[in-house]
Amino acid sequence: MAVTEHVIVGELIERVYRRFEHAPLAYGHGTDNAWDEAVYLVLGVTGCADDESSLQLPVASADYQRVHQLAARRIEERAPLAHLLGECRFMGERFLVEPGVMIPRSPIGYLLGEPLHAWLGPNTKKIVDLCAGVGCLGILAAQRYPQSHVTLVELDARAASLAQQNVALHNLGDRVHVVQGDACQWLAEQTDQWDLILTNPPYVDAPDMKSLPEEYRHEPVLGLAAGEDGLSLVDRFLPELAERLAADGVFLCEVGASAPAMQRKYPDLPIQWLELPKGGEGVFLFESRKR
Ligand SMILES: C[S@@+](CC[C@H](N)C(=O)[O-])C[C@H]1O[C@@H](n2cnc3c(N)ncnc32)[C@H](O)[C@@H]1O
Repeated sequence: MAVTEHVIVGELIERVYRRFEHAPLAYGHGTDNAWDEAVYLVLGVTGCADDESSLQLPVASADYQRVHQLAARRIEERAPLAHLLGECRFMGERFLVEPGVMIPRSPIGYLLGEPLHAWLGPNTKKIVDLCAGVGCLGILAAQRYPQSHVTLVELDARAASLAQQNVALHNLGDRVHVVQGDACQWLAEQTDQWDLILTNPPYVDAPDMKSLPEEYRHEPVLGLAAGEDGLSLVDRFLPELAERLAADGVFLCEVGASAPAMQRKYPDLPIQWLELPKGGEGVFLFESRKR
């Protein structure tokens, strides 16, 4: 293996960091600063573990070239790293992505499992992830609730195909299945009931769509835009919940910065806004009232 003389992983991270730090980049696709972004790129390309001992390892020349090429594209195209790498890490898990699909980052990832124990036991069986993107949340849910069967519903064909690949990557083909289609229509046509309906739908309102940083324009409008107030998908899910949630079922939904609009539009809806100690905003929970 050819090795670039004298360049070790730690030094390469420093060099990329200095390039990123002086570029007008926006973060938010898995990192929120130039240093973490440099670490993400170098470890993503070299495959090194994120630990102290990796910092001293020599960098192969092919990896060195690739890191610099991708750093240049990150700066010139303002493309998110996950799109450039074709994969990302979310909640410690690997997910395949491609240019043109949404990059996993929802704070719902941190809530699945133990933080939801007050509402959902570990034996939760029936779960659906509406607007599933590349399948990250539904796949994490399947891992956190080992008794569960999970349906992922996603409209975009490319994202649905990646969701299918990610299900296979995580060896969950026996418990997780992907449906390509309109989640609102799909939900309305169901006769079953779910213990957990989770969704991170598009929720960016029209004014915010106009001022998105360049990086977010690499993601599809279909994955972001949700009408004037950011609630066009949520508006269509809510009327279905009474019928589609099991007696002690839960609806878990991210609306991000559209949370104030949600509160204004549905002041009497008995929802709880969840604490998000790891960051993010606007995740609420609605409990079925059939207990
Ligand atoms: C904010 S992204 C979230 C993706 C994924 N849940 C995540 O957390 O990474 C919203 C996703 O909803 C999909 N979508 C938009 N409208 C939809 C609809 N009517 N039915 C199903 N999926 C839809 C988009 O293609 C996009 O993948």
